[in-house]
Amino acid sequence: MKILLPKKQIEAFRTKAEKTEHRRELVVDFMREIQDHYGWVPDEGVELVAETLGVTTIDVEEVATFYDKIYRQPVGRYPIHICDSICCWTRGGEQIAAHLQELLGIELGGTTEDGLFTLLPTCCLGGCGRAPSIMIGRKFHGNLTVEAIDQLIDQLRKEVAR
Ligand code: FES
Repeated sequence: MKILLPKKQIEAFRTKAEKTEHRRELVVDFMREIQDHYGWVPDEGVELVAETLGVTTIDVEEVATFYDKIYRQPVGRYPIHICDSICCWTRGGEQIAAHLQELLGIELGGTTEDGLFTLLPTCCLGGCGRAPSIMIGRKFHGNLTVEAIDQLIDQLRKEVAR
């Protein structure tokens, strides 16, 4: 069975928590490390974070709920966050979202059958000057066109095939 996070990393968070007054500040980083290792953060991950940092599971859930780049359910290898806020919307964001859904054969919230891509709507990514934009994992992509999307997806598929 895949582990949530190697023991060494868990202990590093325990040590940091012992030295800090504000343990909740470590919650996002801890969940991100679990996510990087495990792919998403299941309930056991929330419990692990709470127990290790000495905070409540509600403290951890609050952060996970607020922060939409923390995945509380399985996602594809490449989660694609599509900005649906005003700047992107006025500059072709809807077309980008529609194209991605058609290209990948899934709706927003869905994951491709090969487990590679998940499409997730999101609010402003902070790159309005480069709208329309998306984030794939933690990487921002702006000034998008349908052609640029095709290239990005193609590139990721090739990376996986290598
Ligand atoms: S509105 Fe899309 S990045 Fe700001």
